Amino acid sequence: MEKTKIGFVGSGVAAQLHARNLKLFPEVEISAFCDISEKIAQSLAKEFGGKTYQKYDEMIKKEKLDAVYICTPPTIRIEPIEMASERGLPIFLEKPLATTLEEGKKIVRAVEKAGVNFQIGYQSRFQPAVKRARDIIANGSMGLITTFYGEYWADLPAAPWWSHRAEGGGQVIEQATHIFDLARFLMGDVDSVFSKFDYSIHKNVKDFDVEDSAITILSFKSGVKGCITNTCNYWGTRAFVEGRVVGSEASMIVKPFDVEVLIFKKLKLPQPWWAVRPPGPEHLENNLIDGYYNEDRVFIDSIVQKDKSRLVDALEACKTLALTTAAYKSSKTKSEVKVDSNIL
Ligand SMILES: NC(=O)c1ccc[n+]([C@@H]2O[C@H](COP(=O)([O-])OP(=O)(O)OC[C@H]3O[C@@H](n4cnc5c(N)ncnc54)[C@H](O)[C@@H]3O)[C@@H](O)[C@H]2O)c1
Repeated sequence: MEKTKIGFVGSGVAAQLHARNLKLFPEVEISAFCDISEKIAQSLAKEFGGKTYQKYDEMIKKEKLDAVYICTPPTIRIEPIEMASERGLPIFLEKPLATTLEEGKKIVRAVEKAGVNFQIGYQSRFQPAVKRARDIIANGSMGLITTFYGEYWADLPAAPWWSHRAEGGGQVIEQATHIFDLARFLMGDVDSVFSKFDYSIHKNVKDFDVEDSAITILSFKSGVKGCITNTCNYWGTRAFVEGRVVGSEASMIVKPFDVEVLIFKKLKLPQPWWAVRPPGPEHLENNLIDGYYNEDRVFIDSIVQKDKSRLVDALEACKTLALTTAAYKSSKTKSEVKVDSNIL
């Protein structure tokens, strides 16, 4: 059987995570790792096989690849994407699509023009628990949905580029993008946002110019009202990421990183209600199926089966980028900002 040959552009944390999954797929061969740091590329090649390169153009030209994984910091995107697209290579790109909407739109145009398969790394969308939550919201059993509340509370990522806005884009655009994307996935598109960003904790730290925390009010096109808070100063044992949805017949907690969905159904409680201990929530899903594994599986299948239908494509990624960049703009202008829906 002819193997599907993969080349990595960027060989850091995210690349390692995907390489681990790809190694489990018998029909996949990792052909090459590229990184500006030879040492980093070599360390992954030692673990997973493949040649090493320091320049992605060389790797893309020399290797007979069937697809590329682009796992570079968020400002290093457009050139490898255009190069791969021009050669008709399917692309897996780690989130976020870009750090500016202008570049995001450029990527959408390049990928759509070439017609290549494209998958963005929003792994939560590939967790059965999250899909189940979305189906329940869509089937109407929660009644009239009024409210979404999301949290992305984490500590500082180790990557050296992360704390520089010019290199990473800031927490909302780079990291909390996961919860903004979840909000869109569950509730639909957002019409406008009003955000306040705070820079106080690291204000005297050299080379640190991204927000420490932020709060964003979201007005969804459906009429649902929402709020997202995020911080990179949460010293829990792991990131705390949750979405809460309130409907007239039930409320729900979606924990995309813990792969869990809880539902609280409306009850007819005896009066006075505060004297009653209501039954706990119903656990709808609590499984350990890994979204990263699933998104890789779907991407590889899309190449072999020539079927784009299950991919989270560049246009979808750009709609989330339009939302997070609107939040950033709102924090700067101190005003409500309309989310750009004119992507193409
Ligand atoms: N979906 C997720 O949960 C998840 C998790 C981790 C990272 N990510 C995303 O993956 C991307 C990379 O993050 P990371 O944590 O792996 O960062 P990292 O710093 O660990 O890895 C990035 C690598 O890219 C290399 N690089 C930089 N410029 C390059 C170039 N021009 N050519 C080739 N290589 C180059 C760097 O040397 C570095 O080794 C980011 O966009 C991040 O948001 C997503």
